[in-house]
Amino acid sequence: MSSRTARIQPSILAADFANIQTEVERIASADGVHVDVMDNHFVPNLTFGPQMVEAVQRISPIPLDVHLMISDADRWAPGYAELGVFSVTFHAEATSDPVALARRLREIGSRASIALKPGTAVEPYLDLLPEFDQVLVMTVEPGFGGQSFMADMMPKLRALRAAAERHGIDLWLQVDGGIALDTIAVAAEAGADTFVAGSSVYGATDLDVAIAGLRTAASHAH
Ligand code: DX5
Ligand code: ZN
Repeated sequence: MSSRTARIQPSILAADFANIQTEVERIASADGVHVDVMDNHFVPNLTFGPQMVEAVQRISPIPLDVHLMISDADRWAPGYAELGVFSVTFHAEATSDPVALARRLREIGSRASIALKPGTAVEPYLDLLPEFDQVLVMTVEPGFGGQSFMADMMPKLRALRAAAERHGIDLWLQVDGGIALDTIAVAAEAGADTFVAGSSVYGATDLDVAIAGLRTAASHAH
């Protein structure tokens, strides 16, 4: 179909936290490293905060895609952008002013990305898309790796892709949750071009083969 390139971003949530530098170096052939920040409030799980993100940023050979699953994003998200990361994703459900926050992130110098939980409708955001560099459509309930892909989120991707084309913007459409060889083509066909994969990459014996396999499967579906 189109020539859209597929970006693969493994999630270090599925990595060995005791060897994080080695684990990040193992995915050097990917397009970015997905870093899941959880606060035990917005989601019922706790990972790490800005110090850890700064450490990963220091050693990573590839750009950082930070996914904030935290409450009060208006207060905390700019601090992550200030670390110099490539992209910061905040949740639509955790901000009182998504446009102001996205503008602030861009001003600091990172890409601005907004995430939608499975129960959050996409329609209120379609007119605002030029304010964002990326929209993340969650294909699981945020909080944990290893859950099953929700194929019923695909209409959101189709609506976003159509709206981005109407706006004439290069909006990245990211999916996160349950992305593996048997699900990635479905998401790509619906309009996703940026794919987070935790367990399907870190659970593989050869990570480069897993990353390349996902990229090929997604590209063929575009
Ligand atoms: C879930 C996280 C995901 C998670 C994906 O809340 O946002 O990034 O790491 O893990 P898999 O790919 O195993 O579903
Ligand atoms: Zn994530």
